Amino acid sequence: MARLDNASVVVTGAASGLGRAVVDRFTAEGASVVAFDRSQEKLDTLKAEIGESVVTVVGDVTRYEDNLRACEAAVDRRGKLDTFIGNAGLWDFNRSLAESDPQSLASGFDELFAVNVKGYLLGAKAALPALTASRGSIVFTLSNASFYPRGGCPLYVASKHAGVGLVRQLAYELAPDVRVNAVAPGGMATDLRGPGAMGLADTSIEDALPIRDVIRTFSALQLDIRPEDYVGSYVLLAAREESATATGTVIDISSVGTPGRSAAP
Ligand SMILES: NC(=O)c1ccc[n+]([C@@H]2O[C@H](COP(=O)([O-])OP(=O)(O)OC[C@H]3O[C@@H](n4cnc5c(N)ncnc54)[C@H](O)[C@@H]3O)[C@@H](O)[C@H]2O)c1
Repeated sequence: MARLDNASVVVTGAASGLGRAVVDRFTAEGASVVAFDRSQEKLDTLKAEIGESVVTVVGDVTRYEDNLRACEAAVDRRGKLDTFIGNAGLWDFNRSLAESDPQSLASGFDELFAVNVKGYLLGAKAALPALTASRGSIVFTLSNASFYPRGGCPLYVASKHAGVGLVRQLAYELAPDVRVNAVAPGGMATDLRGPGAMGLADTSIEDALPIRDVIRTFSALQLDIRPEDYVGSYVLLAAREESATATGTVIDISSVGTPGRSAAP
């Protein structure tokens, strides 16, 4: 038997990078997945490659109604929702306080926090009734930047630290019905973008940095890390029988655990 047989799951930011790797693994483990993303084009590719076991929903995680549509799609399909995975994110491309002009700092903050923090909060709110009914769980994607400096600059690092607060508070508020946990990966070569307000909407981490070299250099294990290397922790946290006692937990699998050495988001 697969580890997520008959599980009904929503994944945000599902069409690319880590989210896509989670969808691939969850469907292979028997889950029925609603893949929620703002990119229709990437969702079409995902649907064509995966087929039946995935339903796609195009929308914006900063809008409550769009999160709700994704959760309703899961309930319509399987009569329940077992796990909500908040994963969509933006990066700040290492724009430091000193080198940011005040206007882009202010508008970049609003846009980046709207995705990285408000998106998770609204997703949790939209999923809550169905998760309470199923005694399900929430898993958020955090980062080495949730614990250490240099995984970005103030906007990104503060947003990922805020994610730890969300996990702890929601785990407290939603117990005993809903478990709330997170996975903190380190750097990956993905299509991760930045806020349009900072002129970074069309900039991808993979194009902007020699990210593979950075990861290998700063990983304690000196590995060529791919998104799929991180997905086992999501399976563990989503599989109720394997992590029944875990709530308020952040699994730090970034392998950049030395403060000051972190150099990717
Ligand atoms: N790439 C890294 O080095 C790295 C390291 C640690 C943590 N992370 C985290 O991993 C998560 C996934 O990022 P990734 O690297 O796979 O990037 P990615 O850009 O490849 O994937 C993110 C997906 O989120 C979608 N998205 C962005 N804004 C959205 C919105 N408002 N509404 C709906 N969808 C939206 C994008 O279209 C994209 O498909 C993020 O939370 C990121 O902070 C990334």
